[in-house]
Amino acid sequence: MEQEVSAGIQRYVTRANELTAHRRAFRAQVRALKFDTVAVHGIYGVEEAFAAGQGGIVEPIFPSTSQAYRDSDEMEAGLGYLIPTWCYSRIHNPTVFYLEETLALLESYGCAGDASCLCTSSGMAAIKQAIEPLLALSGAAGEAVNFVSAAQVYGGTFQLFNVRMRERGASVRWVTEPWETGAWRDLVDEGTRFLYAEMPSNPQQACVDLAALAELAHEHGVPLIVDATIATPALMRPLAHGADVVVHSLTKTVGAGGFAVGGAVIARHGLASRHLGEEARADYATWLKLWPFRDSGPCMAPHSAFFLLNELRTLRLKIGHMSASTAAVAGFLAGHPRVERVDYLGLPDHPRHRLAARYMTLVDDGTPTFGHLMSFTIAGSAADARRFFDALQRVFRATDLGRIKSVATIPAISTHHQQGEEGRRLAGIPPTMVRLCVGGEHPDDVIADLDQALARI
Ligand SMILES: Cc1ncc(COP(=O)(O)O)c(C=O)c1O
Repeated sequence: MEQEVSAGIQRYVTRANELTAHRRAFRAQVRALKFDTVAVHGIYGVEEAFAAGQGGIVEPIFPSTSQAYRDSDEMEAGLGYLIPTWCYSRIHNPTVFYLEETLALLESYGCAGDASCLCTSSGMAAIKQAIEPLLALSGAAGEAVNFVSAAQVYGGTFQLFNVRMRERGASVRWVTEPWETGAWRDLVDEGTRFLYAEMPSNPQQACVDLAALAELAHEHGVPLIVDATIATPALMRPLAHGADVVVHSLTKTVGAGGFAVGGAVIARHGLASRHLGEEARADYATWLKLWPFRDSGPCMAPHSAFFLLNELRTLRLKIGHMSASTAAVAGFLAGHPRVERVDYLGLPDHPRHRLAARYMTLVDDGTPTFGHLMSFTIAGSAADARRFFDALQRVFRATDLGRIKSVATIPAISTHHQQGEEGRRLAGIPPTMVRLCVGGEHPDDVIADLDQALARI
């Protein structure tokens, strides 16, 4: 319904509509550019640089907590969402806005439809923001609210789903072989609110048939949510294959330098959900930002957005290089007698190699490319895995991944510790598993470090 506004407010609305139309036209031009160009410039073009940044060639940091208004009419128009405004940095911030626009453009690169992005304080905050409104709605009488997820998800996600969401009465139904679309079909029913997959999964390298899963979700009128943290939009863009929402931990591969914790929810316009209202379905990420996110507060710091914008500019270059190095390291480990098994989607004999190759290619190049995360199990005991791990000299021991510096961890004693033995069995995490994320070093030096550590078992 049209809102009655005073002439003073209307003046601001008219001016804002002109600016919005101008900005949309510029954004449409950017959408037609190549991936690297979008990653380098985002929507911060020459005109924007003079309008917002005194001509500075990189997006400025706006550390201010709040925005001043010229008068009460402008304030009312802003706070009533009648004009675009950033008002208060818990809700909007110009530097965060530049990052959101760039990520929305990269994630929807090559898609017919458009998408919007909401940046959050962390990857976990992004996942929570993305799923909560879908579960919040009370079910019809007798309907058990549930969601269906691949069991192979990051340990924090496993806990969020298995513990926190159950506390609220929404139960997760785990799919242990998520690459089999039929296994999902068996678990979806009237009470299902969404399907959720991580691709490739951390650390097991599970993957799904994205297009088939999106089709299944849509048959049931629910969205498919995909955590594509490890792939990044430089290797895979799930929206192009029918997914509705993509979540990222920007802390990881996107933010490879390791200076910022952050997350993102990127949602297609016109999302499939028979549970959400019209406004939410039309532009889910913006709706989240204006309502549930505003009321809960997990906002990204402008300094983090600044670092992450800078990382995005070289994303394709970095992921291409690190993926090639990871393939070399995986090949070395696969032939080593102290290694029982290597899970890397790029290995031609990996059971999911062909499925992954359908979805993971270096953007604007087309070469199947599988990212820089892998896991392997040591031929021996849990103690042998620890001996190997403790002997690493160049590869850092850290509960981290996605870095430009190689990092390794033992998931059973770190990322997946809290989910207990039963949870780890379900997710396929033995105590001898080592997760390795290969960075930007020369692969020969990474291999040399692994080789000397394997010799110490
Ligand atoms: C695949 C994946 N998703 C989400 C997260 C959570 O991200 P954050 O640590 O930024 O909250 C992680 C963290 O390791 C992850 O690996």
